[in-house]
Amino acid sequence: MPGGFRFGIHLGVDADPLVGGGPALRIRIRDMVLRDLDEVMEIEKASFPTPWSRGMFSEDLDRPFSRPFSRPFVAEGASGEVMGYAVCWNVAGESHILNIAVRPDRRGAGVGRALVRECIRRGARAGCARIHLEVRAGNEEAQRLYLRCGFVFDGIRKGYYTDTREDAFLFSREIRVRDAV
Ligand SMILES: CC(C)(COP(=O)(O)OP(=O)(O)OC[C@H]1O[C@@H](n2cnc3c(N)ncnc32)[C@H](O)[C@@H]1OP(=O)(O)O)[C@@H](O)C(=O)NCCC(=O)NCCS
Repeated sequence: MPGGFRFGIHLGVDADPLVGGGPALRIRIRDMVLRDLDEVMEIEKASFPTPWSRGMFSEDLDRPFSRPFSRPFVAEGASGEVMGYAVCWNVAGESHILNIAVRPDRRGAGVGRALVRECIRRGARAGCARIHLEVRAGNEEAQRLYLRCGFVFDGIRKGYYTDTREDAFLFSREIRVRDAV
C-alpha cells in the first residue's frame, strides 16, 4: 500500500518479531509531504550533529526513482503530529536506510521500531533482497534498535562521519518475501 495509510499499528500484540515488546501504539505511517517539513526539520535538528537541510528532504520528495517505494515517510500521531520519519532508498535490488529519527519526547515507545519495520516492508515490496545502513559507532540506542529488528553487524568504516571523524558501523538485514506484508 505505497502512499496509503495504515492506522493503528499495534506493537506487542502480534507474533511479528519486529514489532513485539511494547504497548499498543496509535500511529499512522504515510508518505512525507512538503507541509511536514517544519516538524521534520525540528526533529532533525534535535537529533543529529550535522542535520540534513530542508532542501535535502524536499529533493527526496520528488526524485523520479522514489515512487512508489522510496518516498520518505512519517509516523503521524493521533493529533496529526509528526512523531518520526525515515528516508530509505530502494535501488537496484538493494535497500538503504539514509535517515531515521523520532521526536525526542516520543522516543522509547516503539516509533523507531515501526519506522524500521516500514523501511523493510517497502524494501520487500520493491523486490530488494537486503537492507543496509550506517550508524555512528557511539549511537548505542540506534544500534540496539537495528539489532532488535534483525540486522547484523557487517563491519566498520573508519572515520566515515566527516563532522566528528567518528567511525560508522555497517549493519544489514536480509529482506524476505514475507516482509512485504
Ligand atoms: C534511534 C531512534 C530512532 C530510536 O527510536 P525510538 O522510537 O526511541 O525506538 P523504539 O522505541 O522503537 O525502540 C526500539 C528498540 O531500540 C532500543 N532503544 C531505543 N531507545 C533506547 C534507549 N534510549 N536506550 C536503550 N535502548 C533503546 C531498544 O532496544 C528498543 O527495544 P525495546 O522496545 O524492545 O526495548 C531514536 O532514538 C532517535 O531518533 N535517535 C536520534 C536519531 C538517530 O540516532 N537516528 C539513527 C541514525 S542511524
